[in-house]
Amino acid sequence: MIFGKKDHLVGLDIGSSFIKVAELKVTGKGIVLHKFGMARTKPGSIVEGRIVDMPGLANDIRALFKSQKIREKNVAISTGGHSVVIKTINTATRPEKELHNTIYSEAEQYIPYDIDDVNIDYQVMGESEFSSDQMNVLVVAVKKDLVAEYIDLIHLAGLYPKIIDVDTFALQNVYEKLPSENLEIITLLVDVGASKTSLNMLKAKTSLMMRDNVSGTNQIIEEVLSRFDVTMDEAEQIVNGEANDIAGKESVQEISLEIAQSWCSEICEVVNTYQTSANDEKVGKIILSGGGVFVKGFKDCLLSEFGDDISIMNPFEALIVDKKKFSDSFITRTGPLAPIAIGLALRRVDDK
Ligand SMILES: Nc1ncnc2c1ncn2[C@@H]1O[C@H](COP(=O)(O)OP(=O)(O)OP(=O)(O)O)[C@@H](O)[C@H]1O
Ligand SMILES: [Mg+2]
Repeated sequence: MIFGKKDHLVGLDIGSSFIKVAELKVTGKGIVLHKFGMARTKPGSIVEGRIVDMPGLANDIRALFKSQKIREKNVAISTGGHSVVIKTINTATRPEKELHNTIYSEAEQYIPYDIDDVNIDYQVMGESEFSSDQMNVLVVAVKKDLVAEYIDLIHLAGLYPKIIDVDTFALQNVYEKLPSENLEIITLLVDVGASKTSLNMLKAKTSLMMRDNVSGTNQIIEEVLSRFDVTMDEAEQIVNGEANDIAGKESVQEISLEIAQSWCSEICEVVNTYQTSANDEKVGKIILSGGGVFVKGFKDCLLSEFGDDISIMNPFEALIVDKKKFSDSFITRTGPLAPIAIGLALRRVDDK
C-alpha cells in the first residue's frame, strides 16, 4: 500500500464524546503514525448519531486540525447507529449487472426505511453455506439525510470528505492489520462508545454478523444525573474517575458496575446466539475498544462469563510509533479510543 500525494487521507472519527484524528505515512519500513489527536465534543452536539450543533462541531474539528498541525484536507469519516443498516442477504447467484437490480428491488424487505431515502452499497461475500446456487451479499444502507449532514459538516470545517465509511468496517480494517492476531479464530470486535456500541463478528476477514446498539457510557452519566444533584460536567468527571472527593462516589461505582454488567450480558447473548445457530462453532476471542473499556468491572464481567480470551484493542500495534513523539502512557490512554480513526486513516481515496 502506497499513499501517494493524491490519495493521502486523514482518518476522522467524529464521536459524540470525542473527535479523533489520525494521519499516517507510508515508509519503506511500514506504516508510521504521523499525527494522532483527540478533542472533546461539546455535550449535545451529536444526539442519537445526528448532528445538532453543526457550527460548533465544525469549529471543534477545525481547532483539532490546527492544534495537531494537520494540513491535509482530504478526510475519511464514518457513520453508525440507527441510520445505518447492515445485512447479509442470501440470493440466487447471478451476474453483477443483474445483482444491482435485485438488491434494489428486494431491499425494501430488509431495510426499515423508504428505499428513496437511503444510499445502498453492497459486496458479494461468496457462495452461500446453504446452497451452491446461492450467494451471500453484504448490503449496507445509509440514510441519505445523515450522509448529507456529515458532508455539510466536513465542508463547513473546510475539509473534503473523500470516503464515508461505517464504524464497524473501520474497526475491522484496523483489526485485520494487527500483527499478532490469528484471523482464522472467530473474533468479536466490540466498540463501546459514549452513545452506541458497534459489534462485528469476524472469521478470516469475513463478517459473520454486524450490528450497532444504543449501549454506551452515556447510560452511566444519565443515571448519575437522575440520581444525584450534579451538573453534566460533574457527572462526567465522576464517571471518568476524575472527581474522587464527591459524595456518593460508591453509589456511582455501583451504577457503573450495573451498566457494565448489562453490556456484558448483551455481548454474551450475541455470542450464544451465534454459537447456537452455527452448530456450536465457538467464538474464540473478544476484542474491546471505545471509552467503555475504562468502565470498572466491564472486562472482569466478560472474563468471568466468557473465559480468558478478552483483550483491549491497541490499534497502534498496526503502526510504527516513534516513542519520542508518542509516549507509552499516551498510547495506553488513547489506544482503546483510537481504532476507528486509525481504521479510517488506513483507507485510500480509491478504496470502495
Ligand atoms: N479514563 C476513563 N474512565 C472512564 N470513562 C472514560 C475514560 N475515558 C473515556 N471514558 C468514557 O468514554 C467516553 C468516550 O468514549 P469514546 O471516545 O469511545 O466515545 P465516542 O466515540 O465519542 O462515542 P460514540 O461513538 O458513541 O459517538 C467518554 O464519554 C467517557 O464517558
Ligand atoms: Mg465512537
